[in-house]
Amino acid sequence: MPNAYISGTGGYVPPRVVTNDDLIQQYGVDTTHEWIHRRTGINERRFADAGVGSAELGEKAARRALEAAGLEPHELDMILFASLSPDYCFPGSGVIMQERLGLCEGPKARFVPAMDIRNQCSGFLYGLGTATSMVQSGACKHVLLVGGETHSAALDLSTRGRQVASLFGDGAGAVVVSATDEDRGIRGWWLGADGRHVEVLCQKVWDIKQRPFIPLDEHGVGQVQPEAMWAYMEGKKVFRHAVERMCEAVLTACTAQGITGADIDLWCFHQANMRINQYVAETLGIPEDKLVHNIDRYGNTTAATIPLLLDEAARDGRLQRGMKVAMVAFGSGFTWGSAICDW
Ligand code: ACO
Repeated sequence: MPNAYISGTGGYVPPRVVTNDDLIQQYGVDTTHEWIHRRTGINERRFADAGVGSAELGEKAARRALEAAGLEPHELDMILFASLSPDYCFPGSGVIMQERLGLCEGPKARFVPAMDIRNQCSGFLYGLGTATSMVQSGACKHVLLVGGETHSAALDLSTRGRQVASLFGDGAGAVVVSATDEDRGIRGWWLGADGRHVEVLCQKVWDIKQRPFIPLDEHGVGQVQPEAMWAYMEGKKVFRHAVERMCEAVLTACTAQGITGADIDLWCFHQANMRINQYVAETLGIPEDKLVHNIDRYGNTTAATIPLLLDEAARDGRLQRGMKVAMVAFGSGFTWGSAICDW
């Protein structure tokens, strides 16, 4: 059985910076920089312009990951796209990105499978588990895994929505998972879910049990009520479960590998809230200098946080060949996961 390793990383965030003060000045949100920064660690985030969607952000990150891996798009055997903000209800953003990568035209066209993953903040790790299995089984040699989000289109950027709107930003991260005979790569992945908490963190938009699924006004125009249109979150409950499940996910991974936290050289925690991550790190005795962050600059980019962290660390030299890397995430569902990789 081949090993599955990360042969290339890429990241892309849109150029428009929106600071905490911009939320007040440009959008009229009743908040303060101090409130947001103290509770979440966020200073600013990126918002894509209208007309830009998750597949476009994902394509930019994917091209960088492919370049880092020394591969052309047509050498891919599969595409996985993790997102809670896909371009459309259907089809998924994976096929949109496949077409954008030029895989559907010309002599090098390759109609490889493209699959979307809808596991929110855990989407990247669910994708990593899938990509690793595809490679280790021999079904694929190179799998492109992208996490891409365009949250800014679906945030209630008013005082009513401030609890959620101040947390999220746009961006994409990508990795290529490739087969190798070398003794390196993804050593294991562990995923979990608890569907009792669906209603604690969700964005429903519609209810498919209704006829029609979106109510119509007297002119036949669909009417989405604000409580369905914007994400609903019970912040304190999410915080508590995130800390518990992330600690558990770390312990599960270390126990399965027969290692302790001290054996890990670099920790990539999902970037939902700096305080969640500090709490987990303190609980497990993880030293600050082994953690990487980007929530201060990008906010919560959901499925993109971990691949963006990997890409930044790989490019600025913090992530070196031979290091042992742990990745941990928690999100809506609830879902969670962890993975250990020898880089
Ligand atoms: N600016 C100013 N005031 C605000 C803001 C804001 N942006 N948001 C909420 N408030 C107000 C509330 O209206 C409330 O006012 P009130 O007391 O007059 O009613 C007060 O601040 C306290 O609100 P809480 O929601 O109780 O604040 P809390 O201390 O719980 O912090 C937060 C909110 C930061 C969202 C916190 O609960 C949290 O981080 N939870 C984790 C959620 C999370 O990380 N979600 C990310 C998505 S899921 C994932 O990726 C894991």
